Amino acid sequence: MIDGKKVLFSGMQATGNLTLGNYLGALKNWVNLCDDYECFYSVVDLHSITVRQDPSELRSRARKLLSLYIAAGLDPKKNCIYYQSHVSGHAELAWILNCFTYMGELNRMTQFKDKSSKHADNINAGLFTYPVLMAADILLYQTDVVPVGKDQLQHLELTRDIAERFNGVYGDVFTIPEPYLGKAGAKIMSLQEPEKKMSKSDENVNASIYLMDDPDTIMRKFKRAVTDSEASVQYNDTQKGIHNLIDIYCACKDVQPEDVVKEFDGKGYGDFKTAVGEAVVGVLKPLQDEYNRIIKEKDFLDSIIKENAEKAQYYSTKTLRKVQRKVGFPDRIR
Ligand code: TYM
Repeated sequence: MIDGKKVLFSGMQATGNLTLGNYLGALKNWVNLCDDYECFYSVVDLHSITVRQDPSELRSRARKLLSLYIAAGLDPKKNCIYYQSHVSGHAELAWILNCFTYMGELNRMTQFKDKSSKHADNINAGLFTYPVLMAADILLYQTDVVPVGKDQLQHLELTRDIAERFNGVYGDVFTIPEPYLGKAGAKIMSLQEPEKKMSKSDENVNASIYLMDDPDTIMRKFKRAVTDSEASVQYNDTQKGIHNLIDIYCACKDVQPEDVVKEFDGKGYGDFKTAVGEAVVGVLKPLQDEYNRIIKEKDFLDSIIKENAEKAQYYSTKTLRKVQRKVGFPDRIR
């Protein structure tokens, strides 16, 4: 609890081009939560270097992502928006938690299996212990709630296991966090292979809608989206492509799948795809305009970056000192 409010933490990697999946599965749901929770949203740049990055590119992407958080509607005076690398406690707690995590647990992580097969020439220890750093991010703020897309649930489950294990040894040190999934859009799938999640690392550019795609590109990608030969807009598990388009439409328009099925009853896929494309443009265009405005506000962004890092440092240090004392590190001499 901070000032009587429960704590919420989430983060996003500043790697690759963010997709509609990142927006609908995560960012969009973050807005307005600050009325009920004390919110921390990190640009997780420590996580990014588990895959080789160009330094100036990473720096630039991190700033763009931070601006995008604000453009999406996160008020930086009410939400603590900061760079993970500016708060030393993340790496320090991760080290300690590494000593409370089993190799077998990390071996089971599907994201590790995926990424190590994609980056077979660089399967580094950081890639393997990535979920421990994620646990540190969350536990550092005594987080109650973590809004994420479905693909991160396995990491969150591990975070809870690590926290319970630590608490089992040292008493009630960490709050046990709960996941928070949005009503729609928790798993947006590829437009080309709807059995795979939409991912920024997909080599086929038509598989993903990028947040900065212009309206023509968005409409074109939806027109090419893979569907089926049923020729009927129904919400079921066999029509995977249509299921995904309905999910996207619902998340953008704030409607239910049954409303969409009714609305497009008797209409062809062409009409439906156009409507989904327009719904997405309707959500992304204002986001892009706001982003283009904010990214130019250099002094404003710099002040946010500084103030929020100090705030995050303050709260994270409280937990870190407690943990350090529990495990037996010597007290600091003041
Ligand atoms: P990342 O950067 O891959 O994704 C950021 C968020 O977007 C969600 N997401 C999706 N949601 C629905 N459909 C999709 N196709 C889709 N693709 C991505 C993710 O679930 C995530 O919520 N490890 C994390 C970042 C992280 C983090 C944390 C998150 C680091 N520390 C602590 C929460 C708490 C990651 O790589 O997310």
